[in-house]
Amino acid sequence: MTRPRSLPLADTLDHQRRACARAGSSLYAELLAGIAADVEAGGVCAKVLGPRAGEPLASALALRFLGAVHRLVLEGRAPALAAHYPSAGGRPGPGLVADFLATVAELRPAIEDRLDEGVQTNEVGRSAVLAPGYALVARRSGLPLRVLELGASAGLNLRWDRYWYDTGETCLGDPDSPVRFEGAWQPVGGGPLPDLGGPVEVAERAGCDRNPIDVGTEDGRLRLRSFLWPDQVDRLARLEAAFAVAARVPAPVDAADLGAWAEARLAEPVEGVATVVAHTIVWQYVDGPSRDRLRAALRRAGERATPDAPVAWLRFEPAGAVGDLRLTWWPGGTEQVLATAEYHGVPVYWGHARSAVGTASP
Ligand SMILES: C[S@@+](CC[C@H](N)C(=O)[O-])C[C@H]1O[C@@H](n2cnc3c(N)ncnc32)[C@H](O)[C@@H]1O
Repeated sequence: MTRPRSLPLADTLDHQRRACARAGSSLYAELLAGIAADVEAGGVCAKVLGPRAGEPLASALALRFLGAVHRLVLEGRAPALAAHYPSAGGRPGPGLVADFLATVAELRPAIEDRLDEGVQTNEVGRSAVLAPGYALVARRSGLPLRVLELGASAGLNLRWDRYWYDTGETCLGDPDSPVRFEGAWQPVGGGPLPDLGGPVEVAERAGCDRNPIDVGTEDGRLRLRSFLWPDQVDRLARLEAAFAVAARVPAPVDAADLGAWAEARLAEPVEGVATVVAHTIVWQYVDGPSRDRLRAALRRAGERATPDAPVAWLRFEPAGAVGDLRLTWWPGGTEQVLATAEYHGVPVYWGHARSAVGTASP
């Protein structure tokens, strides 16, 4: 068995600092440099993080720490630090690192209480990646959609049809929606923009997650906000808009492992709808047995699929520096790469066409 990769604490912090700088959070990049210096000097961050040094890199210790502090900022418990956090109406200024360290020293027990909580987000921008795929399934089948999302987190992307999408040529969704994607797609290689033309109707929506977040509660909303980066205000605004949609559009997310959940939902063909099994940035967290169970369930469902009860597997998962959007379609089992996109969803590079690439894999 391979051991999960871990690094010395200084390297873990530096790894995360570079990732944050690359992904456009100068606030977190500056804070992580300050945290690393404080750890080196044996300050309060060494006391909080030291006992957890040696955790696997994938457990994202630095982001859990920053998320725990961000939550206190959002709860109004750290006003000096809030003055630097755009998510709380502030602006990063001189004294950012000093105010951060003072907050950690003052609120250390509350931070440590939250530190074991895993990073969990629900990235609404990924709806802009999935929506053209759903539209394609609706056009190809001529049927309403039965949407089954795996690893749906809070289920915000299960409401994708209640958001507004406009490529400049075609549009889809609710024109009055507070969640809006306008010009989010770039054609690749001189190809066309995605066709969002309909009709697109969602007959059923349901999801599962091993740890669903209930955005009907303030705790659930705070949890999602706290793991966004405080200076990425566009993502935060989109999240708030999605909360408003979620308050009026129900979308159940069951607490379940995705392999077993999908197996139960795919056990019988459903006539008169196109069943779409969808997931975004989930595969890396799923263990081997659960992956095998999902693949087997899809294969069996694919064998029974008919033009009146088709099955599609639509997923956006890592493919190097970007993610790719793949669609496998039954009857037939053909697989296409429809697009690539940035990990948070936008922009989407449409038209990375590669058809029938053989065995379906995310
Ligand atoms: C990075 S998040 C992505 C959430 C959401 N799909 C999105 O794109 O915003 C990964 C999600 O997968 C869920 N997850 C991981 N493994 C799972 C499994 N075996 N079964 C169900 N959910 C799982 C996690 O709880 C988490 O909510």
